Amino acid sequence: MYINWDKKYETGIEKIDKQHKELFDIINKLHKNVIIEKDGSLVNELLMELKIFTINHFSTEEKLFKKYNYPQEADHLKTHQIFTKMISDNLFDVTSTRLTQGYKILDFLKGWLIKHILVHDMEYVSYLKKQTGILADIKNDIIF
Ligand SMILES: [Fe+2]
Ligand SMILES: [Fe+2]
Repeated sequence: MYINWDKKYETGIEKIDKQHKELFDIINKLHKNVIIEKDGSLVNELLMELKIFTINHFSTEEKLFKKYNYPQEADHLKTHQIFTKMISDNLFDVTSTRLTQGYKILDFLKGWLIKHILVHDMEYVSYLKKQTGILADIKNDIIF
């Protein structure tokens, strides 16, 4: 099944929502290539794309944590590292065919992304929202 964007995934931080949507798009492209087309030829390319996008996205979130002294920063960073490692391991796993690789990683990706946004990302979002003016500050922040 494709993963459809839903209101429940919205953080209210424009840049973060845009990046999350980009991650959904890549996973859906992977779904199309593996499940619908049963091809697998785009698996490595899409995983590479996913890796680049996640590194960029994680760094955006990590900048926010630093700037606004997010107390759960270390725990959140750990979940990002586990994910990055999983992507790298699969990317260079030459022992399985690309299609098998695709099936295996698709389930992981969908589950991980949805849970990560709804549980871990929403935790920092609620922390930020509790502090007056932060969301407006983030919106106007040119570095972020
Ligand atoms: Fe995150
Ligand atoms: Fe995120």
